[in-house]
Amino acid sequence: MSIRTLDDLLAEGVSGRRVLVRADLNVPLDKQTGDITDDGRIRAVLPTLGALVEAGAKVVVCSHLGRPKGAPDPQFSLSPVADRLGELLGAPVHFATDTVGDSARSTVADLADGQVALLENLRFNAGETSKDEAERGAFADQLAAFGDAYVDDAFGAVHRKHASVYDVPARLPHVAGRLVLREVEVLSKLTSEPERPYVVVLGGSKVSDKLAVIEALLPTVDRLLIGGGMCFTFLKAQGLEVGTSLLEKDMVETCRNLLERSEGKIMLPVDVVVADAFAPDAAHDTVRVDGIPSHRLGLDVGPETVAGFAAALSPAKTIFWNGPMGVFEMAAFAAGTRGIAEAITKADAFSVVGGGDSAAAVRALGLDESSFGHISTGGGASLEYLEGKTLPGIAALEN
Ligand code: 3PG
Ligand code: MG
Repeated sequence: MSIRTLDDLLAEGVSGRRVLVRADLNVPLDKQTGDITDDGRIRAVLPTLGALVEAGAKVVVCSHLGRPKGAPDPQFSLSPVADRLGELLGAPVHFATDTVGDSARSTVADLADGQVALLENLRFNAGETSKDEAERGAFADQLAAFGDAYVDDAFGAVHRKHASVYDVPARLPHVAGRLVLREVEVLSKLTSEPERPYVVVLGGSKVSDKLAVIEALLPTVDRLLIGGGMCFTFLKAQGLEVGTSLLEKDMVETCRNLLERSEGKIMLPVDVVVADAFAPDAAHDTVRVDGIPSHRLGLDVGPETVAGFAAALSPAKTIFWNGPMGVFEMAAFAAGTRGIAEAITKADAFSVVGGGDSAAAVRALGLDESSFGHISTGGGASLEYLEGKTLPGIAALEN
């Protein structure tokens, strides 16, 4: 791989130069208050930003937040992120209220050496995510005008062929930031001869998002443990009734086919916590998977499942975990995710937690982050990396 790194850029000297940094500051916000509920992604980019500040660069940070539809939408403003980033850096972050307009131009022009600016949400501009090369290119031209060099530290977005990820590096000298380098280094350990047993735990709500990675991982892994909302489509494929649980009907046949080809590597829950409603205070019970009542929905895996999964994890030497086992945000349905997370930390294994939700779960449940080998900031990105796909953001750095 011929990727230049932040250290190469620092060695050239960046004092007084404008360095455009693509970060993934797409943090979860509280729906009521708008407060940042997990600042892990902001912290993860501090090593890169700190090094640039230290070296006297004029640091221009850009990011997306959520999925606004190509126009300004106040609920997705990066303004609270600018405040939090300033607190963590210990110096104010100059916030531009647009991405490439007057505010951005004057904010960037006014930066002193060693100061940091954050542009407003990239996705307030249709050009960022456009499938049309010319439209993306025009937006990339505007962004590239704010930098003399480009650093990609947005690992969580490297799987997106977006202007700030894919087209800007074609326009500026470009390097990988510390976070992107570390993520790729860790994930490449999982794809090239992982130490065995290699056990993967997948959860989360959508089977359709995970099918490609299941396909890609099946030949490689020793065990694949499936929980979370997605397990119900697999249980249905086994001929079980799943009540009103999450179900992707058009995926049942595919899941059946995967189970048939899995040579017994796939482990599914044997018990689940079912509730009357999707609510924190809903009445709930633990039932066997062949006894899910028709009017109830599964919101977590049960204790026997946790014990079985923990037994499968215990001899592992390599573990990858993506996706919560249940609705961990509600205390009544958090035990499955907690139990699996604890089992992962107890195994004498190199463990990688992939993804926004699972990483947030680790922190929300108060688990010790340092007891995991690596907590990735990328959900989709880490899955696509493990699938062996070409990631547009990485490919753009290689050229
Ligand atoms: C994520 O949260 O997965 C990344 O920030 C990418 O966001 P996206 O899935 O909206 O492109
Ligand atoms: Mg995503």
